[in-house]
Parts: sequence; C-alpha cells; structure tokens
Amino acid sequence: MTRVGSLRVRVLGAGVVGLACAEELARRGHRVTVWDPVPGRGASWAAAGMLGPAGEAWHGEADLLAAGRESTRLWPVLAARLGVRLQTAGTLMVGYDAGDLLELERRAALLAALGEAAEPLDRRALARAEPCLARAAGGLRLPDDLAVDPRAVVAALRERLADVLRPSAWDLDREPVPGRGHDAVVVATGARLPEPFAHLVRGVRGEVLRVRADDPPRHVVRGTVRGRSVYLVPRPGGEVVVGATTEEHDGPPVVTAGGVHGLLDAARVLLPGLDRATWLEAAARDRPGTRDNRPLVGPTHLPGVVLAAGHHRHGVLLAPLTARLVADHLESGTVHHPWDPRRNP
Ligand code: GLY
Repeated sequence: MTRVGSLRVRVLGAGVVGLACAEELARRGHRVTVWDPVPGRGASWAAAGMLGPAGEAWHGEADLLAAGRESTRLWPVLAARLGVRLQTAGTLMVGYDAGDLLELERRAALLAALGEAAEPLDRRALARAEPCLARAAGGLRLPDDLAVDPRAVVAALRERLADVLRPSAWDLDREPVPGRGHDAVVVATGARLPEPFAHLVRGVRGEVLRVRADDPPRHVVRGTVRGRSVYLVPRPGGEVVVGATTEEHDGPPVVTAGGVHGLLDAARVLLPGLDRATWLEAAARDRPGTRDNRPLVGPTHLPGVVLAAGHHRHGVLLAPLTARLVADHLESGTVHHPWDPRRNP
C-alpha cells in the first residue's frame, strides 16, 4: 500500500497495541477510529508492564531481544507524550536457593552471549540492593529493563483518542475491505482474532495478582523460587503486581485456586512482608501466542487489512515499535519480514 494523502484507518481493538497504533497514525495526520466493546480490558488489563527484553530473553530468540531493545528505546518518548511515569530502577533477577542460582548463572551466560548488560550480585549485594527480599542465594541486576503501568498507559491513550473511540465491536465481514469510509483496517484484538485470522493465535493463560504492601520492592524482581518463576512489579503507592502463571489451554481465561496459590507461595518466600499486604485483585487473561512466538505485524492476504497481533508475552514492550511498523507500512508499504503475518512458520 502506498500513501495517498491522509488515510482513513479503522483500528479493531483498544488494548495497548491497538491504541498505540491509532495514536501513531493520528499523530502522522491520518484519520482513525478505534473499535472495541470493552476498551482496555483484554490482556492489557492484566499485564504487569515489564519493559524487559533482557529479563525475557531466551535461547533462539535473539531477534525478539533486538526488537524489544528497539522498542524500549521508543518508550521514553511515548511515555513523556502520554504523561505516564516510566519505572527506571531496573530489574533484579533473583535465585532463591542453590538450584535456582545455577539456573540464574545459565541466564547470565545467555545474556552475556547476547551482549546484554547484567551485573552479578552475591547474597550481600542483593540484600543491599533490595533489603525487603528474603535472604536469597544470589542475583543479577539488569539495569536497562524498564517498567510502566499498562492501565495508566491505556487511560492516557484513551483520553487522547476519546473523540475517535467507538465502544462497539467491528465485524470484518460487515463490509468489504477497504470499504465505504475507510482505506485500511488494523486488527489488534489480541488473543481473539476475527476470521479468517483466528487460527494464527492461541490463548496462553496468565493469572496475575495485585496487592498493596507496606514494604514493596524498589526494583522489578524476577525470581526463581525452588524452580518456580514469579515476578513482582512495584507501582507507586505500594501496589505490587505478582505474576504470572503460563498455561496453554482452550477454555476461557479464569482465575484458578491453584494459580493464586502457586503465585502467592513463591512470592511470599521471596518477599516475606507480603503476608501483611492488603489483597486487591486477581485477574486472568490470555496472551496471544503464535506458532513461532513472534508477533504478527503487517499485511495479510486481504487487501487493506493489517495485523498488529500475536505479541504473546511482549505486547506492552513492543507496542511503540508495532505502532511505527504499522504506520510505516500503511504509508509506504514497508514490511518487517520476521513479523510478516503471511509467513509460514
Ligand atoms: N510479560 C510477562 C508475562 O507475560 O507474564
């Protein structure tokens, strides 16, 4: 698609990704509407908001890490524009016992091979960095990983886009695409894509808790406790997000007793003060997983229909980069090939 003046674009989905795409397009002078029956209540509602490419780095995913870094660099400008606070204290990865520390050492080797900054912390250095934590075997400081509150981001984006937000669903079948009144459609509906794209994503359930603590950590803490992963993401005012379960499933994303128990169990070992915390909520949402765990961003076989989907664990992190790629594609036809939705992994 080549740009011809100002485009009229329908964005389906008002989560962080859809709203970021709409904001970028509007900023570039295009006319957008955003369609969502329950704006901001999908995966963005549960997301902890870790902008942590290093913390999420994994074997065979160097390209995702590079994309995550590029998007992290875009976040300060977006956050400033929206008036939301970025958490810049960094991330501590923590290994609770000797076995967990071994796992952490393997992580440190991976990060070193990928060229990521990661400072090893022995037991004492870890206690100095984050005195509220239990005595753990050791840790790693990831200074370049940030965090943001996705609910604050959604609220700020919704405010900016209030005039163009339509609180209803848009049925892709309802009119041909491009159709009357629009030149392109951007599909950003997370783990529930409309046909003919539904088969491209699968739900990966994540359960997340929120509590208010009187002695919250200062950093984002990503721990392994006796082999179990848990993260703690502090927010201003003492709120701590505790996440997250990961479960491939077919059913609706509900909160389970086992999920809550497992998260609390690991989190309380790491942060004993959590026992005094006030309970706020538990939420479950599906992450939009793809066959190769890479996002789906770009053109589809339907002319004028672009996907901004399949971000799996990285929706908030990759939102600004996705917005840029979508807007560039609509204006000049460029395609980021690793994320091309027409690929066949
Ligand atoms: N990005 C963290 C999660 O998906 O749990």
